[in-house]
This record gives sequence, structure tokens and C-alpha cells, in this order.
Amino acid sequence: MDHSRAPVLDALVEFHEQGITPFNPPGHKQGRGADQRVVDVVGEGVFRSDVLGPNGLDDRLLRHGVLQEAQELMADAVGAEHTFFSTCGSSLSVKKMLAVAGPHEKLIVARHAHKSVISGLIISGVSPVWVHPHWDGERHLSHPPGPDEVRAAFEAEPEVKGMLLVTPTDYGTCGDIAAIAEVCHEFDKPLIVDEAWGAHLPFHPALPPWAMNAGADLCVTSVHKMGAAVEQSSVFHLQGNRVDPALLKAREDLLGTTGASSLVYATLDGWRRQMVEDGEKLLSTALSLAHGVRREIDELPGLRVMGEREFIGPADSFDPLKVVVDLSELGISGYQAADWLRARRQVTVGLSDHRRIVAIITIGDDERTAATLVAALDDLTKAAERMKAPPVLHLPDPRDLELSTVMLPRDAFFGETEQVGVDEAVGRVAAEMISPYPPGSPALVPGEVITKDVLDYLRSGLAAGMQLPDPADSDLESIRVVRDPA
Ligand SMILES: Cc1ncc(COP(=O)(O)O)c(C=O)c1O
Repeated sequence: MDHSRAPVLDALVEFHEQGITPFNPPGHKQGRGADQRVVDVVGEGVFRSDVLGPNGLDDRLLRHGVLQEAQELMADAVGAEHTFFSTCGSSLSVKKMLAVAGPHEKLIVARHAHKSVISGLIISGVSPVWVHPHWDGERHLSHPPGPDEVRAAFEAEPEVKGMLLVTPTDYGTCGDIAAIAEVCHEFDKPLIVDEAWGAHLPFHPALPPWAMNAGADLCVTSVHKMGAAVEQSSVFHLQGNRVDPALLKAREDLLGTTGASSLVYATLDGWRRQMVEDGEKLLSTALSLAHGVRREIDELPGLRVMGEREFIGPADSFDPLKVVVDLSELGISGYQAADWLRARRQVTVGLSDHRRIVAIITIGDDERTAATLVAALDDLTKAAERMKAPPVLHLPDPRDLELSTVMLPRDAFFGETEQVGVDEAVGRVAAEMISPYPPGSPALVPGEVITKDVLDYLRSGLAAGMQLPDPADSDLESIRVVRDPA
């Protein structure tokens, strides 16, 4: 296929050349109706590129096939059979991918899945069969589960419809997709991979294997995370015959928008062209930058960059572009470090937790940004001496955070609920999700029995700086639980 083409971008150029006078949405009409103060901030280009309505880039019957061609080029670039572009991020794409199961049907799901997967279970009524991640109890980190646990789940629940694996994690650790795909296929069931963090993986041989190459049936990636498309840009890919493309298309139609963003599609299209033409070179530069940054940070007093020493074993490989910095020797929390870096050095990081921060290096970085990061962290090591000791986080053995599921997440979420004080919540069934964010993997899922350990962990986390975006009571003095039958 001709990868020098970028059908969505080309159609945008053509649209402008044709001088079309639109009487269809978007109502800003190429920005002419937009408030100048908005244009001043976001730029004219945003509005000029926002045209994809039913009568925009494609004609009324989608005869021009602009999107179709762009998706086919993306599929070809990564070696998938079908690719779907999706707006609203992988948060929406993962919900579309749950098409392999319906209400009350079972799906094996890695329990450290992102909250968007859990939302998908709630909406679809799919019944999760949890596979617990590989826990690193010492560092309080989860890594993807391995093939043995997946096999055990298939043997225990032979009627499951497939499995959803999350890899890479937010910390860049990756599971053995090929071995897990083999297990799924032995049972003739599809493997779905939430590879939200893996958009770049297909384009460089030194990066961990990516889902389609490793034999997964379906996978989703967020191109706005490790790629270079705008926020919400997501794609999902399909191969093989275990998932019917028509079924996926129907799910896509069920959940998709009728006003897809041409900005999202255009930048996805351009990213594919960029990666096919220059991806390996650009990623080689990013990788050598990341390796340099890792070495320099590791030499700073009190900082330790986590990598193969810590991860390989519980994980199978890891992405060095995720620079995971352990601050425990410095005696401050990741929350404190992230706040200080932003406030004092105008440097932001991708993730912070009780003892780490994660800085993400991409093809958008260069020597200057790398030096800014290292210098800011050097300053942090000095400033840390003057910072207060962080509040103590209650970190139980990770196994004590594995709760029992007694109800379908959908039934717990949509059924009769009540808000009870935390002290009364122990032993009750959760009706809401509570997810430390980032990484956004829920500690509590609707349908699970609440324990004192999980409450102590979340409440002490909140006091230490953890973000909890989803509970109704954001102070966590009360919790939404399933109403007890009278
Ligand atoms: C593993 C995982 N899956 C899905 C998502 C959702 O991605 P998006 O932000 O593209 O909606 C995230 C977001 O952080 C994630 O970490």
C-alpha cells in the first residue's frame, strides 16, 4: 500500500481547496462562528480542521471511503487485518472490544485492569472471571499475569468467552502476550489486549513485542499516550477468525459518536504515515535519549531508576521509555515529588504514587527536554531534605487487597444502593468503583465485598495525596453500597 498517502489529511486539504460553504455541523463553520478569545487560545487550525460531519470529508453515503482507506493503511502498517479508528480514547475502544461477550457471559479479566474496562463490564453486564496480576509485594506494584494463571482460569471456567489482558502497565512492564495467546487459542477463545500504552511498540524492534505480532486477536492502543496524535486518539485492531468483524462493527456503531472528530482521525492518519516512514529512526533517538536519562537519574543521590533489575521476573519485558523513578531513599512520596516538580520547576510527570514518579519519554523529546528533567530531579534531591515526611500509607499485603466478587458489577452498580459511613461499609457490597488515579486501576469494583484493609489503604492514600476521581463522596467518609434486602 502507498503509505505516503494520508487520506484524511489529503481530504482536509481538498475540502479547503474546494471552498465548500457548509450548512451542516459543526456549527462553528470553520471557526467563523467561534469566539475570538477561543480562537486566540486554541488557534484557527483547530476549527479549520474540524469538518468531518456526515457531509464533511466523506460524502453523505461515505462513498469516498476516506476513513476506510485510512483505517486500511493503519492495519497494513501494523500487520493487522482490520483497524478501527476511535474517538474518546481507549476508554471507549475497550468497551467496544468487549463485544466478544454479552450480559451474564463470562470473560477472564486481569484484575488490575483500567477503570474503563470495569466500566465496560458494568455497561455490558459481562461477568468477570478475575485473574490476579503478578504482585511485587515489596514494591507494591502489579505486573501482568502469566500463562499459568490464565490456563487455570480457563480450566475452572470452561464456558468463558475469552480473556482481556492489560499490557504494558502504566509502569511500562509487559506480560508474555504470545504465551497467553497460545493458552487462549488452545481453548479456542480470543485474547483481547488493552495495549493503551503500546502505540509505539509495532514500530521499533528493540521495544517489547506488541499484541498483533504476538498472536492476540484484538487489541486497543491510545495513540495520544505514547504516539503523536491528539488526545482521545485511539485505534483497535483485529486479526484471525475468532471475533467476527461484523460484530465488532455493530459494537462500534452502538457506542460510537455520529460526530467523530476529524482532528482525531487526521492526526491518527498522519501518525501512521510518520511511523511507517520514520518511526524506527525517531524511536531509536527516543530510546537513546531515554537510556541516557535513565543513567543520569540513577546517579542522582537518593533516586533509583527501576528497570530490568526490578521488573524482569515478575514481568516479562519492559518499555524503557517509561522512566520509573523510585524515591524511597529520598524519604518523600511520589505525590510530593510531582507537586514540587510542577510548582517549582514547571515539569510534569505521567504518574505519581506513594514512592515513585514515572516520566514518559517519546519521540517528542530531545536533548533539551531530557536535560530539563534531569536538572529538575537533581534540584528535587536537594529540596527533599526540607520537605516533611509524607503521611504514612497503609499498604497491606497485596493479596489482602484481592476482594471477593459476590454480584455482577452491573447489578451492583445499577441496583438499589445506599450511602453508608465508612465504618459501616466493611462487609457490605460495593456499588461504586474507587480507583487511585493514575494509574486508574480500581481498588474497589462494584459487586466486591468491602474490607477494612481496602478502606484503610484508600483513606490513608487520600490523606497522602492519592487522587480518587470516581467515588460519590470524594472525601471517602462514606461509600455507596448495595442496599441490604429489608
Ligand atoms: C491500561 C489503560 N487502558 C485504557 C486506558 C484509557 O485510555 P484513554 O485515556 O485513551 O481513554 C488507560 C488510560 O490511562 C490505561 O492506562
